[in-house]
Amino acid sequence: MPPYAFFHKQFLPLSEAKIGILTHAFHYGTACFEGIRANWDSEQERFCLFRPEDHYKRMLDGCRILKIHLPYSTDELCQLTVELVGKSGYHEDVYIRPLAYKSSETVGVRLHDLEDDFLIIVTTLPPYLGGEGARCCTSSWRRVDDTMIPARGKICGIYVNSALAKTEAWENGFDEAILLSYDGHVSEGSGENIFLVSNGNLVTPSPSDNILLGITRDTVIKLAKNELGVDTIERQVDRSELYLAEECFFTGTAANIAPIVEVDHRPVGTGEVGKITTELQKLFTEVMLGRNPKYPDWYTLLAKS
Ligand SMILES: Cc1ncc(COP(=O)(O)O)c(C=O)c1O
Repeated sequence: MPPYAFFHKQFLPLSEAKIGILTHAFHYGTACFEGIRANWDSEQERFCLFRPEDHYKRMLDGCRILKIHLPYSTDELCQLTVELVGKSGYHEDVYIRPLAYKSSETVGVRLHDLEDDFLIIVTTLPPYLGGEGARCCTSSWRRVDDTMIPARGKICGIYVNSALAKTEAWENGFDEAILLSYDGHVSEGSGENIFLVSNGNLVTPSPSDNILLGITRDTVIKLAKNELGVDTIERQVDRSELYLAEECFFTGTAANIAPIVEVDHRPVGTGEVGKITTELQKLFTEVMLGRNPKYPDWYTLLAKS
């Protein structure tokens, strides 16, 4: 069974889904996308699509920012996604990449008077940021501000900012970059939100620090409160707070909960993965497989086809 794509309003083999080289989004980054996990539970022989409605709500928000009009509701987008995962025949964790884009094949920077289209791709998910803990640096690149390109939309063009930071970090021997906002406060990783543990509470940058409002971030805030009785404070975070934190971790659909063990050559806490991080990782593994019955709204379960 070949992997399929949803493209030009139909399901077809991924190898046949091609765009023209003049496509507007290819030249100007005028598109927004999502990354959704379908986690394969080998015991139950089923996929758990994790919070697909919330991902599509966020994508449709990005579409509003970019003036992209799609003829689908959130429910219809979820339905198309379930059908595509079923058709693609994988029995392992997969990553779903929906993308809404300016599809006109024309030259000219703008958002108006252009056609829109939408596609979905399903692919396998290589491990992202190893489990032993990430060694990070503060990036010399600053996070784009809401007045430049709104970071609360998962807008393709923004990812040049992330790519510059990620490659700089990698070339300097680190696993990941931590970007500061233009005014010098901690914003997020190149593709993850960031949390620290301070005086036993979780602290994370607030939405106005130019973060993507992560769905894993929201999941962690709720699990910490409901399951561990730990509150999360959303506020501005200084760079030096990362150096003094008891624990630190990233959250994201690709990274899950990824411990940070070093920032700018300083060990975080003891330099080992911390207690709260480990407890949250355990809780998160349960929910991402759809196994904790307290959170049914987060799961779309799909039995083996
Ligand atoms: C820049 C950025 N921040 C944060 C996240 C984490 O968001 P989520 O947990 O919804 O995947 C992502 C990944 O989508 C991202 O690209």
